Amino acid sequence: MRAGVIYRKHGSGWSGDRARAGNFIRVTSQALILSVGHVSRRFGQRQALSDVSLSVRAGEMIALIGPSGSGKSTLLRSLSGLSLIDAGEGRIEAFGLAVQAGGKLAREARAARARIGFIFQQFNLVGRLSLFTNVVLGSLGRIGAWRGLLGLWPADVKAAAMTALDRVGIADRAGQRANTLSGGQQQRAAIARALVQQAQVILADEPVASLDPVAARRVMETLKALNRDDGMTVIVTLHQVDHALRYCERVVALKAGVIAYDGPASGLTRVILIDIYGPEFEDVATEGLPA
Ligand SMILES: Nc1ncnc2c1ncn2[C@@H]1O[C@H](COP(=O)(O)OP(=O)(O)O)[C@@H](O)[C@H]1O
Ligand SMILES: [Mg+2]
Repeated sequence: MRAGVIYRKHGSGWSGDRARAGNFIRVTSQALILSVGHVSRRFGQRQALSDVSLSVRAGEMIALIGPSGSGKSTLLRSLSGLSLIDAGEGRIEAFGLAVQAGGKLAREARAARARIGFIFQQFNLVGRLSLFTNVVLGSLGRIGAWRGLLGLWPADVKAAAMTALDRVGIADRAGQRANTLSGGQQQRAAIARALVQQAQVILADEPVASLDPVAARRVMETLKALNRDDGMTVIVTLHQVDHALRYCERVVALKAGVIAYDGPASGLTRVILIDIYGPEFEDVATEGLPA
């Protein structure tokens, strides 16, 4: 189910309720789900994030791009409270709950994090456990660790795990040990675990970077289907710009810790991409892009 959308001209206050072509970003009229305000993060001499502000609405699918070291992972990890931002005015909220502010985790951080599914490049499954067990572990935050340790999964949780495995297309592998499956299947299981967690947002950090092109496409299509059909909000960091353009309506680009672009994928021109990635970018990936 999707609410109506408005189209807002990027970089100005213009807004309207009709679809327009060109430099307009589609913004769902649904609730603000994540908000990043004036966030900075320094590691020693390195400024990983510098006064970054960002708003994400329910139902968006956003690609976070930028060269290696531009701050993508730091931003994503900060959103879920896995990484602390610097002291100061910086603030991150999710679902109206404070995640962190002024360099400290907020008291509600745990409640906010319970609704955020985090997907890692290396899948983070327990290799010796079955796919089913890995996925059902997504419910631990809700049912309590001791029940999980004893394998006392409530029937509805077991059913949810099978539904989730089916949703990502690997229900037939439920009983198989995770480390016997391909990278693409493991990554889809990690997505299923986020569904069992009842995540309302999926933050995926380079989820396809370790996968071959066919497996990568299936993982991206899985994320897109959850976004399109179930209204899942998705932020995905990608080092392949073509994936960003193909699957995401909105692209946020970081360059040296600063947001260099935030707008529709259709507005990402060759000039902007060369500014973000440098002149070598032209050789590898700008074919077919608007000038
Ligand atoms: N734990 C850390 N300790 C020191 N420096 C870090 C740490 N994490 C990230 N950095 C630095 O912060 C910058 C941004 O890193 P990162 O967010 O991982 O970028 P990206 O994900 O875009 O490649 C880089 O210069 C990186 O070296
Ligand atoms: Mg990274």
